Amino acid sequence: MCGIIGIASNDNVSSNIINSLKKLEYRGYDSAGIAINNNEKINQKKVKGKLDNLIYALQEDQFDGKVGIGHTRWATHGEPSDKNAHPHSSRSVSLVHNGIIENATELKKTKEVRDYHFESDTDSEVITALLTHHRREGLSHLESIKKTITILEGSYALAIIFDDNKDTIFGAKNGSPLVAGTNGVENSIGSDSIALSSVANRVCYLEDGDIAVLDNKNIEIYNIKGDKANREFVEIGITESDVSKGEYNHFMEKEIHEHPLAVGETFRQFIDYDTGIIKIPNLNLDFSKISKIHLIACGTAYYSCLVGKYYFEQYSRIPVDCDMASEFRYRDPVIDSNALCIFVSQSGETADTKAAVDYCRDRKIKTLSIVNVKNSSIARDSDYCLYTKAGAEIGVASTKAFTAQLSVLLSMAIHLATLIKSITIDDNKKICKEVMQATQLLEQAIERSYSLKDVAKSITKAKGVMYLGRGTSFPLALEGALKFKEISYIHAEGYPAGEMKHGPLALIEKNLPVVCIVPPGPLFHKTISNIQEVIARGGKILMITDDETLESNSENIWEIFRLPKCPKSIEAIIYSVPIHMLAYYTAVELGNDVDQPRNLAKSVTVE
Ligand code: G6P
Repeated sequence: MCGIIGIASNDNVSSNIINSLKKLEYRGYDSAGIAINNNEKINQKKVKGKLDNLIYALQEDQFDGKVGIGHTRWATHGEPSDKNAHPHSSRSVSLVHNGIIENATELKKTKEVRDYHFESDTDSEVITALLTHHRREGLSHLESIKKTITILEGSYALAIIFDDNKDTIFGAKNGSPLVAGTNGVENSIGSDSIALSSVANRVCYLEDGDIAVLDNKNIEIYNIKGDKANREFVEIGITESDVSKGEYNHFMEKEIHEHPLAVGETFRQFIDYDTGIIKIPNLNLDFSKISKIHLIACGTAYYSCLVGKYYFEQYSRIPVDCDMASEFRYRDPVIDSNALCIFVSQSGETADTKAAVDYCRDRKIKTLSIVNVKNSSIARDSDYCLYTKAGAEIGVASTKAFTAQLSVLLSMAIHLATLIKSITIDDNKKICKEVMQATQLLEQAIERSYSLKDVAKSITKAKGVMYLGRGTSFPLALEGALKFKEISYIHAEGYPAGEMKHGPLALIEKNLPVVCIVPPGPLFHKTISNIQEVIARGGKILMITDDETLESNSENIWEIFRLPKCPKSIEAIIYSVPIHMLAYYTAVELGNDVDQPRNLAKSVTVE
């Protein structure tokens, strides 16, 4: 949610800043801007819309200078426009901001900035105004930043340059993520290591309260007390191919094709190949004492929690509550002292999920996070952490991270169930064998899903789509509907198939597409009965199943999409493929911007 970058080099930096902004665009694409210090004069350019608009605008100007900052915006305060785009600059200072300054309105009325001529509607510009004031009062660059941040309420990651300091960039962090990086010849700060991947090989994750001071030779970090902090720099662990589309048209397409890799690599951490069982190694947590599990997340990660609830309850018989992180702490939840709160997040930076971790930490409740991004805030803030091994996910609509999250949740449930003996070692071994088939089955599912292109062509004309399922197929229906609506802009709803008659059936009219997720098993016939009720009212059914007997015996069964036969334990993982492919093909068919759907951003670092 907004991406920031700052680079200090011994050469011109504008092209590197643009390069980093390309990698950050997934965090917001309402506007983009750049500011460069050229011999103690700051030049800036900022424009509404995607980064391409900025690149086009820059063609007319020469933007030389060895120190600069850049921004891609996801609008919070003030509509997307040129004037609200970052950087926000005065004659002496220019800055880019990710986060929200909650007391901006009050601060704008203070005597220090009352006479400042505000040009934008943003909360961020008040920081520029305060810094300008403190500099005018004679404070040093660093002191003016220190004084300013003491009165800011809310979250920020800042990159700041001053006109009379042509070599230095200052960074400051509270709440929003900020990473410093180096490659020996240039130093940088940015919202994440993806942004720094072309200008750094080692990175350091800043902590709340930190201020970074960097030129092309040194990076100094001061902690919240103002003392010099000795923070560890680690290998960046991201290659150029991780963050490029390669042979694919979109990141989402590439990432769907990476389901097998993401799931395979994730499970690999939890398979003990000597004994053939699933086991979570090196986790110093006494699972046997856990009385209840709370699963907490946002968006697609929340739907993985809903599937996880079935895993934990079915295998380990431990009660599970699921919460959307944005609701969790405000409902004053009742949490047992032996409960474990599990937080699921691809980015590890989602503001609501992070706030929920902090809520639990403050109350001394055990926290475990399942995240994809190493060293992210949520990973660092929780007591225990397990990683999904999905690799960089750039498409705003999450795909491979979802199946990787299911893989961790399933592994945890099996590990826990084995420990507390609600399943036997033999059960564990059987499921472990099934898990080892996941990669191959996912590959076959992808292969078969190409046929959904034709379905997608006719679905584009629909004014709405319903997704139905029972058991773990219900959260999958929710995930399918979310994915579908966020990139096709066609209304979609997911429902438990059995709930249709309590309201949603009223929406069924002739030829309304209804995607029914119907794996074989105990709920199969019940779901088929619900589908008959939909057919009787004119709904047009797309069945997704691996049942081999089901036949299209009604003209309203529009299509049966058949997956390869898959074991129950990994069913939800395999069924994710057609769900994601259908959304992808429909959005492509409609000509939508698949990777950057309107109004959204990937890493949601504001509440
Ligand atoms: C945004 C993204 C979703 C993601 C959600 C939670 O809404 O667009 O794809 O599922 O945030 O993000 P997280 O990084 O916490 O999994």
